[in-house]
Amino acid sequence: MNVVVVAAECAPWSKTGGLGDVAGSLPKALARRGHRVMVVAPRYGNYAELQDIGVRKRYKADGQDVEVTYFQTYIDGVDFVFIDCHLFRYIEGNIYGGSRLDILKRMILFCKAAVERIDDFQVPWYVPCGGVCYGDGNLVFIANDWHTALLPVYLKAYYRDNGLMKYTRSVLIIHNIAHQVCSLPDEGRGPVDDFFHADLPEHYVDLFKMYDPLGGEHFNIFAAGLKTADRVVTVSHGYSWELKTSEGGWGLHNVINENDWKFSGIVNGIDTKEWNPLLDVHLTSDGYANYSLETLHAGKPQCKAALQKELRLPVRPDVPVICFIGRLDQQKGVDLIAEAIPWMVGQDMQLIMLGTGRQDLEQMLRQFEDQHNDKIRGWVGFSVKMAHRITAGADVLLMPSRFEPCGLNQLYAMMYGTIPVVHAVGGLRDTVQPFNPFNESGLGWTFDSAEANKLIHALGNCLLTYREYKKSWEGLQRRGMTQDLSWDHAAEKYEQVLVAAKYQWSLATV
Ligand code: GLC
Repeated sequence: MNVVVVAAECAPWSKTGGLGDVAGSLPKALARRGHRVMVVAPRYGNYAELQDIGVRKRYKADGQDVEVTYFQTYIDGVDFVFIDCHLFRYIEGNIYGGSRLDILKRMILFCKAAVERIDDFQVPWYVPCGGVCYGDGNLVFIANDWHTALLPVYLKAYYRDNGLMKYTRSVLIIHNIAHQVCSLPDEGRGPVDDFFHADLPEHYVDLFKMYDPLGGEHFNIFAAGLKTADRVVTVSHGYSWELKTSEGGWGLHNVINENDWKFSGIVNGIDTKEWNPLLDVHLTSDGYANYSLETLHAGKPQCKAALQKELRLPVRPDVPVICFIGRLDQQKGVDLIAEAIPWMVGQDMQLIMLGTGRQDLEQMLRQFEDQHNDKIRGWVGFSVKMAHRITAGADVLLMPSRFEPCGLNQLYAMMYGTIPVVHAVGGLRDTVQPFNPFNESGLGWTFDSAEANKLIHALGNCLLTYREYKKSWEGLQRRGMTQDLSWDHAAEKYEQVLVAAKYQWSLATV
């Protein structure tokens, strides 16, 4: 099948979170399964390895003609295509920078340019498949989050309704539905008048119109994308259930329930080359060590000592090192850790927190470090190297997220023999089976509501096991490290969704 993945960010070129990781690695896994895969992303910076492929096009962006050019590179069986335009360039360093309207206009232009991109690939892309589908019937777009939720709408309005790409289908992945509401100005909603920037036939406005107590009557891109995409995937089963509730749907639960038939939950995979303690390039210097399940006994303590040394914490092999890695915001539950700090500092343990985000929370991290210098480190900033080193050197990863569509850090942690303690929501509930001491099963500790006392209870049990029950601890590490968390599983499930999207055409045209 021919698959075009369209995303606002794509690692390693651009990334603010898990969406970038997924756009960088799911396509490679689909290519490994024999599909012809292209990724289309904006070109935010001077990505050295790309080639200008000499295509120039002009699109209307808010009444003006804007020229875009296309760059490309081919890696691990995937065509990575970058759309270059002055609108993307000035925000270098902050993908979602600018005002709400700036982002909206960028995404309108990006989706228009992305949906047309395949024109230039007609020869290799339009191949017959299994004697059933011909031409564009074998092509499926995968859009990601609200930023590219306009793509299924453009596909319908510009191509399918007028018969140009009658058989092309689209799948929309929901990575985080809250971002259309709460990550100002990175918002997928606004006044109904915003519709006029999108250059769509007038009657399409009804697809976008939403009413909810949060925004009143408003224009909502995600709503239109959810209605027009042929299939919708969310990044875990738990999250696909939560989205249907008024608490978890962020105003879109009714649209989601009405389109329930096209929903699937597929847990993300991870890049097992990048997140592998044996191959990790960040563990080859400064006293760290690469390790595997076989060398865990020597390698992990060595990483722990190197981490304590690097962060100027007392170097002690016996003290449990607990870490938090992530955005400092309400979603990630950093405030729950803050509430638990008085209890934590009463324990013999060390706490390392890495992240950026809300200024008050950044300030709080610095303050904790000042007040408890022998126990707490608050690293404000984002460092890929430190994320790897902390994951390797820590014993426990805390993820008290209020909601978590999938979550990748708990998966990375388990690969490194670091035990997760998580709030049982969304993907965290799907991926961290609670430890059961009676039959020595499970992968970590979970707590069932976002409250500091619940976190303390779970962490307390975890620390007791760490100190008193070494065999159980090793069992937890072993089970975590031997899981297959690669993309291969998930890619197989995505393939079923792609086939279902395509099959729908077959039914529709019979
Ligand atoms: C978003 C979600 C996160 C998920 C990631 C990749 O960042 O918040 O839970 O893992 O997307 O799908």
